[in-house]
Amino acid sequence: MEKEKIILTGDRPTGKLHIGHYVGSLRRRVELQDSGLYKKIFIFEADGQALTDNIDNPEKVRQNVIEVALDYLAVGIDPAKSTIFIQSQIPELCELTFYYMDLVTVSRLQRNPTVKTEIQMRNFETSIPVGFFTYPISQAADITAFKATTVPVGEDQEPMLEQAREIVRRFNHIYGETLVEPEILLPDNAACLRLPGTDGKAKMSKSLGNCIYLSDTADEVEKKVKSMYTDPTHIKVSDPGKLEGNTVFTYLDAFCKPEHFERYLPDYPNLDELKAHYTRGGLGDMKVKKFLAAIMQEELGPIRERRKEFAKDIPAIYEMLKKGCETAREAAAQTLDEVRRAMKINYFDDAALIEEQAKRFAE
Ligand code: TRP
Repeated sequence: MEKEKIILTGDRPTGKLHIGHYVGSLRRRVELQDSGLYKKIFIFEADGQALTDNIDNPEKVRQNVIEVALDYLAVGIDPAKSTIFIQSQIPELCELTFYYMDLVTVSRLQRNPTVKTEIQMRNFETSIPVGFFTYPISQAADITAFKATTVPVGEDQEPMLEQAREIVRRFNHIYGETLVEPEILLPDNAACLRLPGTDGKAKMSKSLGNCIYLSDTADEVEKKVKSMYTDPTHIKVSDPGKLEGNTVFTYLDAFCKPEHFERYLPDYPNLDELKAHYTRGGLGDMKVKKFLAAIMQEELGPIRERRKEFAKDIPAIYEMLKKGCETAREAAAQTLDEVRRAMKINYFDDAALIEEQAKRFAE
């Protein structure tokens, strides 16, 4: 059977990627890439979108384009299988956004819950940049320009996908079947939907200093795990401990596989038993943290090493990105061609139009 499905997903290059990105999306992308089930895979850096709320710090975005590219390669995204590109290098995305703007109302944008939260977080209430406010439209362009069927992202992106689907339906209704309606593909492990910061706060964020980065050294990972937030009422080893909101256990849910017990904690057959003992009392935080640290080192070690290798030839990374942009641009240009035709704004290659107009004026 011919493969029909096309994946597109991306990240704003505003910082190095951390393990929240890894368990929430990067790990899955590599699996999807290697599954062989997809006709094409596009992974991109949304630098234009990153600028919508970083306009006074463009250098941050510029610096992180290469960091994120290294993170992609380090986790195993392979440019031979996935097209890696940069949003700003694809002018077709701006053109598409321009047309889509007519299909969305201001009140519709104001209802987007993710944008609402972001406006609050950035103290934009009194002066929202227009580009920021309208980024869901530009994101619909990102997705549809590549005819993506499948968009693997976190749950916070659901409103963006809904907006994109609405634009597709509206466009197709007005201009005829042209665009493809995308579907969201959520992470499959509930613990991965949003990994908390090492301090137990809901989200990992650079400004809170509670992230474990893919580029962190082994020592940094060790230190961060050992100082992680657990259960503040679990003081003595004999005290019963709580699992809820206990970051160490949330991370174990995200990272731990059955075989890790044999290797690093043979006293316990599985995670359920470990949790039961912790809840009962008699299991100290440090023992659990050491176990988690061992697991994290096993998973992050090879990533860190590959990242170091790739970083030895930075010009080659830019060359890879440039090639990716060329491939992506071809795909987007094809879609734009179809869009212009559907909208009948392809004046100069529409012989029927020219003839019809000539006739009208001859009458
Ligand atoms: N908004 C996404 C994020 O912040 C990044 C992004 C931009 C994206 N365009 C996209 C993701 C298109 C998926 C598809 O993570």
